[in-house]
Amino acid sequence: MADHLRFQHFARFLVDTFGVCRVFDVAGGMGKLNQELTALGCATTTFDRRHKRLPVTYAERDFTLEEPCEADLVVGLHADGATRVVIEYAAKHRLPFAVIPCCADNGMPYKPWMRHLTELAATLGYAPQESTLPMRGRARIIWAKAR
Ligand SMILES: C[S@@+](CC[C@H](N)C(=O)[O-])C[C@H]1O[C@@H](n2cnc3c(N)ncnc32)[C@H](O)[C@@H]1O
Repeated sequence: MADHLRFQHFARFLVDTFGVCRVFDVAGGMGKLNQELTALGCATTTFDRRHKRLPVTYAERDFTLEEPCEADLVVGLHADGATRVVIEYAAKHRLPFAVIPCCADNGMPYKPWMRHLTELAATLGYAPQESTLPMRGRARIIWAKAR
């Protein structure tokens, strides 16, 4: 089961790793990661389809590669079907990224999905790294600084 502290832990990791910056929070659900990042000084936009959500900057739509780039960092926390596009979008705009993968978009089990995403990032020119947050559930982060 996902840890309710995941938003706080990931927000702290992002600021410690990438600094305070403009963040695209892809598949952000209700906007809880946005709330944590905003509290740490990051101007954050969440992309998701949720009608019921927190009062944060929110784009109520699917995130695609066509989204205009107004961010310094793109992230996805348990972003399911949008995890791959986070990495592809980052590569398109030469941005750093961080994802905490959960379910695959193609039915792949967790470990091969993690390998696949790491290989995708490497193929797109990144030197992907892995960190793990101190929390229950899927807690492994794949991340990279800009190419
Ligand atoms: C497991 S939920 C995680 C939500 C939140 N990040 C969290 O940790 O609670 C996955 C979310 O991905 C969203 N999603 C899937 N594909 C998306 C896309 N292309 N663009 C934006 N959101 C997407 C769904 O609407 C859903 O809210």
